[in-house]
Amino acid sequence: MEGRVVIAARRGHPQEWAPMPGDLEIGALFPPLGEELGPYADLLAGEVLNAGAGNRDLRRLVPGNVHNQDFAEGLHSSDIDIVSPLHRIPVKDGFFDAILCNAVLEHVSNPEEVMTEFRRVCRPGGVLYLCVPFMQPEHKDPNDYQRYTLDGLTLLTERHGFVLQERGAVHNVYTTLGWIAREWLTSADTYGYRVLRRLALPWLAHKSRSSTHQVHSLASAYRVVAVRSDD
Ligand SMILES: C[S@@+](CC[C@H](N)C(=O)[O-])C[C@H]1O[C@@H](n2cnc3c(N)ncnc32)[C@H](O)[C@@H]1O
Repeated sequence: MEGRVVIAARRGHPQEWAPMPGDLEIGALFPPLGEELGPYADLLAGEVLNAGAGNRDLRRLVPGNVHNQDFAEGLHSSDIDIVSPLHRIPVKDGFFDAILCNAVLEHVSNPEEVMTEFRRVCRPGGVLYLCVPFMQPEHKDPNDYQRYTLDGLTLLTERHGFVLQERGAVHNVYTTLGWIAREWLTSADTYGYRVLRRLALPWLAHKSRSSTHQVHSLASAYRVVAVRSDD
């Protein structure tokens, strides 16, 4: 892990670019998305919108026909089928059977408009899988506007005509602490910080990938799964 730097994690902080000994890749804290989706992957069937896809291609993880969407300004892979902002997706009403929006809503300045658009492009009875950070350090992509509590995310979803099916915390407490500790311990390069980096970060990364211990109030992210109501 030593000396590696993740561009995405530092995108908003060019002044912090230099790698530090014991630096930890953010990706080392998170399980693969397939693992994170777990049983919810099967809900993503039919025509599926991968909203704000970034570099994350869902095609091998879900049964549906995936349409990767992102906007032109995004630093994403070339494998984008729909280039548009999230609040203006160029498909007819009710085109999608399911929408996955993972780690995106914190980056939009207009979440209400985006949710209105999700309702428009999702067919009645279609599924919305929405996952948004709670206790995560600022990470710009290209901006970072907000966090949601689970209650806030529930309200947002219901206000836009989706009926909640399930909701809960995502990731364990070590994921939260690992990312926060990384930001803190790479903010200076003193002897003490170097020692702490070497001791704490690999351990937190290991626990983040192996533990099931969740602390709801310290959740790294929250997720809701909802169904679009009839008109
Ligand atoms: C943190 S990445 C998440 C990528 C992917 N969903 C994942 O789970 O790894 C956020 C993505 O949202 C995109 N994005 C941010 N604001 C957007 C907007 N207004 N319209 C469309 N895409 C947007 C960014 O370009 C970026 O690819």
